[in-house]
Amino acid sequence: MSVVLPFSQALRERTRGGHSDSEGASFMDDLMTGKGSRDDYVSLVAQHYFIYKALEAAGDSMKDDVDAAAFVTPQLIRLPALEADLQFLIGDDWLERIVPLPTTARYVDRINQVAAQKWSGGFIAHHYTRYLGDLSGGQIIRTLMQRQFGFQTNGVGFYLFDQIAKPKEFKDVYRAQLDAVDWSEEERERVIDEVMVAYRFNTELFVDLATAKATAAA
Ligand code: HEM
Repeated sequence: MSVVLPFSQALRERTRGGHSDSEGASFMDDLMTGKGSRDDYVSLVAQHYFIYKALEAAGDSMKDDVDAAAFVTPQLIRLPALEADLQFLIGDDWLERIVPLPTTARYVDRINQVAAQKWSGGFIAHHYTRYLGDLSGGQIIRTLMQRQFGFQTNGVGFYLFDQIAKPKEFKDVYRAQLDAVDWSEEERERVIDEVMVAYRFNTELFVDLATAKATAAA
């Protein structure tokens, strides 16, 4: 007897390897295990700024698409929190002091491309990979960064979803929404593939961050 998994579950299982690669990247692992510096954390926040600027602009531009619009909610918007974090972490001139790393530039291009094509499945793939991660592992990352660098809320606002009281319930609803989208099998495959693409960008970004750090130290 074959059991048909809900799409959200199939998506999670089929992309588990991509998640492990991202989670296990040495830059991230170092940060999580106390071997990273405050500057490493700031470098990561800076890259998030470029990524969420693109992701949230894409969300705006897809508001008229019924499938995409179901996922776009002000409760998730992260850009103002990232701006405030960067101002706290770097100073008033933060915007002049940050640049996208090569992987970030490619990641942003891909998000822009998906939005320009009005491909709702691709947009949802990128939306899922970032926001469900922020509501899951992101909460562990926040706790560790607070502990290591003495942050209270300033500097980790990105991980504080003050309009989401219960992340678990929010994620359950999100998964039910994923299951409810009327995608063909073929389109579901494309969405899973795009989530893998998103995981790869995140993993390669950690490699870029490690390289930039090594270059700066040389
Ligand atoms: C140290 C780094 C990370 C840790 C410790 C971590 C940890 C976790 C944990 C424990 C969950 C399961 C939560 C649950 O079942 O409710 C999870 C889910 C998830 N994470 Fe991560 N994660 C990390 C990095 C990442 C990265 C870099 C991404 C991608 C940008 C990511 C994306 C996701 C997604 C999309 C989910 C939801 C999977 C699903 O239930 O469908 N994570 N993470």
